[in-house]
Amino acid sequence: MTPRFTPGQLHVHSGLDDMVATARALRAVGRKIALVPTMGALHDGHRQLMRTARRLPGTVLAASIFVNPLQFGPDEDYDRYPRPLEADLKICGEERVELAFTPSREQMYPGGPEIMVDPGPLGGELEGASRPGHFAGVLTVVTKLFTIIQPHYAVFGEKDYQQLTLVRKLVRDLNLDVKVIGVPIVRDPDGLARSSRNAYLSDEQRTAAITLSAALVAGARVSAGGAAVVLESARAVLDKEPSVAVDYLELRGADLGPAPEHGEARLLVAARVGSTRLIDNSQVFLGQGED
Ligand code: PAF
Repeated sequence: MTPRFTPGQLHVHSGLDDMVATARALRAVGRKIALVPTMGALHDGHRQLMRTARRLPGTVLAASIFVNPLQFGPDEDYDRYPRPLEADLKICGEERVELAFTPSREQMYPGGPEIMVDPGPLGGELEGASRPGHFAGVLTVVTKLFTIIQPHYAVFGEKDYQQLTLVRKLVRDLNLDVKVIGVPIVRDPDGLARSSRNAYLSDEQRTAAITLSAALVAGARVSAGGAAVVLESARAVLDKEPSVAVDYLELRGADLGPAPEHGEARLLVAARVGSTRLIDNSQVFLGQGED
């Protein structure tokens, strides 16, 4: 093995050159890298991504921890986004991450960037409609992380379903040599999808936030009835909770194109609870529901 890398140990690279050198050295000796890109504030959802990644045979598990300024709008929470690096590295150790990449903003974007990745039309829909530039920021940093860490696999959560879909399109359209793996949403026992932003919710807001997943469950339950029935049923649940300000509730195809009449679709919701924006989604099978 290379002098830079001891298998089974956590190596933290904050320097870009170190990270590139280690990744190259690992590739040179035939090791495969599985990357979990994160913005830190790691929770059980991230642990699940790491566990999925480390089950891939013969791989070195890598995680990046970088709060990417490019994907935050001017009124969003970049400055107050949690950055508990020590606790994150502890979780990386517990989850047997061997490479943690923790670059600074200056290292990732020295004087720029001038060039960004265009997410195409889907980048302006759903989340992109209320977060202009968000997905250009996400795809730009993901492309950079793929170039620096050179992973064979990259693991993303279905919680950010539009992000996962766009990363798949990025890899397809730019012929990137990475296999993208999606991991189902991790939920609290009451249904709330795990998110770093849940930390912002008061107890009362957290109770209200459960409405998002409850609406998805209500919609999926009547999926045999078709798209209109699913949306109506989900909307009725959301309407009962006045402190949830819905941004969108949409039914789309599995690739986020138009929903089919029958078969696999995605029900997606975004809402503000207080000043916290939450998203959730679930798979539904139209015309073949649970009824
Ligand atoms: O999902 C996230 O945490 C971020 O959008 C990602 C993929 C790490 C890019 O900054």
